[in-house]
Amino acid sequence: MNSVQLRDKKFDILLPESILLKGIDDVAQQINKDFKDQDPLFICILNGAFMFAAELINRFHSECEIAFVRLKSYEGLERKKTMREIHGLMENIENRHVLIVEDVIDTGYTMEHLLNILKDKHPASVKIATLLFKPTALLRPIKPDYVVQEIPNDFVVGFGLDYEGRGRNLRNIYKIKS
Ligand code: IMP
Ligand code: MG
Repeated sequence: MNSVQLRDKKFDILLPESILLKGIDDVAQQINKDFKDQDPLFICILNGAFMFAAELINRFHSECEIAFVRLKSYEGLERKKTMREIHGLMENIENRHVLIVEDVIDTGYTMEHLLNILKDKHPASVKIATLLFKPTALLRPIKPDYVVQEIPNDFVVGFGLDYEGRGRNLRNIYKIKS
């Protein structure tokens, strides 16, 4: 499929599944080396990262755990300030080697919040693996440790990423048609 329609928007193919899977193989190889014997805790950020997390953990061959968390936004008392909280993190991360598994880093605000929350819980280390990274959209000083694919500053769907809840089931990555 070279283009898809989701709700009111049209999308064109940007990255075929084969490129993503090859990139995940490479990243997984590095992660296997870096986390061997560290009993890492993978933290999958729902909803978007579920597909990437599944592919990644399939390729990890040492002992590990996986947790699924959701970042909930709510309006602070100052109305304009959007805060985020982690929901669903039951595991104690103190002294654990943590690998955050994210679908896409865009401005970097989400990842910055998450890092701050996790670092308060005194993990041994925190690293970031992201399926997609938009370097030209980045507004915060975030450096992902493992990137499957850098992409331009376009809105994308597929491989877990959505537009209004749709498109997560697409195997390729599609970008919005301008
Ligand atoms: P950031 O805080 O701007 O880095 O945005 C990160 C979050 O926004 C991601 O976890 C996604 O949920 C969402 N997001 C950013 N860009 C896209 C996109 O192109 N498609 C779908 N979701 C996106
Ligand atoms: Mg996300």
